[in-house]
Amino acid sequence: MILHADTRVGRPRVDPGNRSGERGRPIGSGCADLGAKAMTSTSTSTASAMLADPLSLIDVDHVQFYVGNAKQAAFFYAHCFGFTIEQVADLTTGCRDAAHYLLTQGNIRFILTSGMSASHPAAMECAMYGDGVKDVAFTVADAQAAYERAIANGAESAYEPRTFADDSGSVTMAGIKTYGRVCHSFVSRTGAYALDRVKAGGLFKPNFRTLGRLGVNEYNKANPCGLRFVDHLVGNVELGKMNHWVSWYENVLEFSMFKHFDDADISTEYSALMSKVMASGNNLIKMPINEPAEGKKKSQIQEYLDWHCNTPGVQHLALRTDDELHSVAELRRRGVDFLSLPDTYYELVWGRVNKMLTENGHEAVREDHDRIRELGILVDADDEGYLLQLFTKPLQDRPTLFFEIICRRGSQSFGKGNFKALFEALELEQEKRGNL
Ligand code: FE2
Repeated sequence: MILHADTRVGRPRVDPGNRSGERGRPIGSGCADLGAKAMTSTSTSTASAMLADPLSLIDVDHVQFYVGNAKQAAFFYAHCFGFTIEQVADLTTGCRDAAHYLLTQGNIRFILTSGMSASHPAAMECAMYGDGVKDVAFTVADAQAAYERAIANGAESAYEPRTFADDSGSVTMAGIKTYGRVCHSFVSRTGAYALDRVKAGGLFKPNFRTLGRLGVNEYNKANPCGLRFVDHLVGNVELGKMNHWVSWYENVLEFSMFKHFDDADISTEYSALMSKVMASGNNLIKMPINEPAEGKKKSQIQEYLDWHCNTPGVQHLALRTDDELHSVAELRRRGVDFLSLPDTYYELVWGRVNKMLTENGHEAVREDHDRIRELGILVDADDEGYLLQLFTKPLQDRPTLFFEIICRRGSQSFGKGNFKALFEALELEQEKRGNL
């Protein structure tokens, strides 16, 4: 859970859907091995795309999770969070080493991957870290050009450019390593695999197939949860490593720092963390980076690292909704487990938030205050407006990855005013787990 604020001038955006597919020599697998036979790209980048800035991000192409059992995880995220189980690449489509499920909601695309043997990277990582985020993939105009630029900027390769192609189009992917277990893929798409076609229900990649009618998909269509896109994505890194990764995002992906909190901002009597927020050039995505800070007891970041093989990784994804009350009510009805705050939170919050809004000439919180309290939603304001947010408990048995459900009414921050109340709630959970 963390912040936001300004907006930067957007870089030019380039239509990713106009390049023809390329074919070449097959190469090995990695986090891009999403169910299709890989071919190296022999193409060169188009001059126009290079000029337009190869690291200009068009969209969050997808977020890939490595999970122990993709079929079952797909139904968890569908039933609890309202995702559509849209496509699959598995034995039935010729994918023999892993199974991949495409889940969608709004402009959110998750790929859930599990290995079919103990030696598959997804199986090995799940054994070490449990289920979690492997790849935060960005759509770009030219994946090879973006990869080459990132490598020139100092990135370490996760896997070299490869193209998955058939008669209807192609998907080119290339990956770089970021903190811990996580990588960033660059993805460029052509023909039937262009992102606008995927958004309209087209196949995600060659060797994916659409699923037939599923009851849960029909149910979700009739009972939407209203989640629209990934608002931000937070990484936890080791003590003393936050600034290293801040520099990495500045240098390699050419992001900028968005806001900065230190342990005076984000601490309670017992535990603390430090956080800096990195933003892509066009503010498509913000990526706060946390490290533990000294406190009387264990930082929530250290608890994450302890249960994640002392390896950095994604702590939470914030999913944006336009109607926080509806989304949270629907998710609660489906059984999603949220952090709960003491009732005293609401004795203070309206004074704090509405004072800030009035001072800055903004409308007061328009949502029903009693309903916000009933649903346990958090509220915060800054000089640009307010936001509503709520955090799930961990999505797996290990206290690692969780989701945030966030709605912005002008505010571009991350709920700084809630940190103290929130962290005290988190400490109660840590205590229950014997980890404080
Ligand atoms: Fe957050």
